[in-house]
Amino acid sequence: MPIGYHLANTLVLRLHEPRLAAIMAAMTKPRIGIIIGTTREGRFGDKPARWIFDMAARRDDLEAELVDLRDFPMPFFDEVASNAWVPSKNEVAQRWQRKVAEFDGYIFVTAEYNRAPPGVLKNALDYAYPEWTRKAAACVGYGGLGGARAVEQLRLILVELQMAPTRTGVHIQGADFMAAKKGQNLAEIAHLQPSANAMLDELVWWSSALKAAREGVRPALAESSSRDASPVTAFVAELQAAIDAADADRFNARFAADVLWGSPFGAVIDGYDAIHAIHARMFAGIKPVPGASRYVVEHARFPTPDVAVAYVRRLATTRESGEPEPGAPGTFDELALFVLVRRDGTWWLAAGQHVPDRRDVYARPRS
Ligand SMILES: Cc1cc2nc3c(=O)[nH]c(=O)nc-3n(C[C@H](O)[C@H](O)[C@H](O)COP(=O)(O)O)c2cc1C
Repeated sequence: MPIGYHLANTLVLRLHEPRLAAIMAAMTKPRIGIIIGTTREGRFGDKPARWIFDMAARRDDLEAELVDLRDFPMPFFDEVASNAWVPSKNEVAQRWQRKVAEFDGYIFVTAEYNRAPPGVLKNALDYAYPEWTRKAAACVGYGGLGGARAVEQLRLILVELQMAPTRTGVHIQGADFMAAKKGQNLAEIAHLQPSANAMLDELVWWSSALKAAREGVRPALAESSSRDASPVTAFVAELQAAIDAADADRFNARFAADVLWGSPFGAVIDGYDAIHAIHARMFAGIKPVPGASRYVVEHARFPTPDVAVAYVRRLATTRESGEPEPGAPGTFDELALFVLVRRDGTWWLAAGQHVPDRRDVYARPRS
């Protein structure tokens, strides 16, 4: 087993012993994207990229893929904000973000343009954010001084993107750079091998450790507990108004065509037409008594901006008097789980499930 795995396992053992089994199961080979950082015609960048890819592909502790920025021709950054905050509109940028997200670590193969990383690489880095974070990165630089100054600047950028850059990089410089430009195969330059191997070892270690750590984190799906619940309260207010008027059309107005409606006794009604027919029959037999049913939103969560999950309690009293009469026929409370989805700005009910509210059974002493 490669040394990187031993080190990663040791770290995992120390940090997460109680959850070791789950984390070990998640420790598959890290996927490494090798990004060619220049795009101009006649670029040299292909050679070092192909060389480090061939070295990486011979190892059994990582999976490597070459990623060419020429395949992602993005404009100069032209979005309202980083995609950390606002989803990008540009379709190539979206495709780029999906590609970046596939990897656990990266090797940036970079030239030095005026002592800095090439603008096209910086632009590509700016076009993603969450996809880079908490992942490892290594650099292969080339140029008169091996791209050393570009690589040092690049590491600062990687840190801002919450990547962990390896200490060791590869620098193809001076005579080696000139010889390779003239056609020498980089694989024949033996003194490049030790730094390349050390860099790959470090990259596997960090990307495996960070992959295990990322997979060990249980996500909180809701973006913020303080998120505005008004889509849910507005939906429920409509239900309230509809039930007060015993108006089935209004009650079902925001049920999606493919809504799923679970009854308390196990039947699942599939689709608007089916549930509307049932509700129309039920409502036809009800004399409207405003306030006889009262809906209360108890929990509303938004696992994504366009999906709401809500628990809504219905406190129902006898229909004749409108007064609570516990235990009387027609008196019941129930709890509904609603899943709402926003489509083109309108919130629709995707699924609903209600059960009788019988919390009293939990209060009974055990026999
Ligand atoms: C605009 C520009 C600026 C450059 N500045 C530097 C530099 O600061 N340091 C350096 O070592 N090489 C510099 N070079 C030379 C590059 O190292 C060399 O052209 C290399 O092949 C560029 O990588 P590429 O062929 O993948 O585009 C520069 C080249 C260009 C085009």
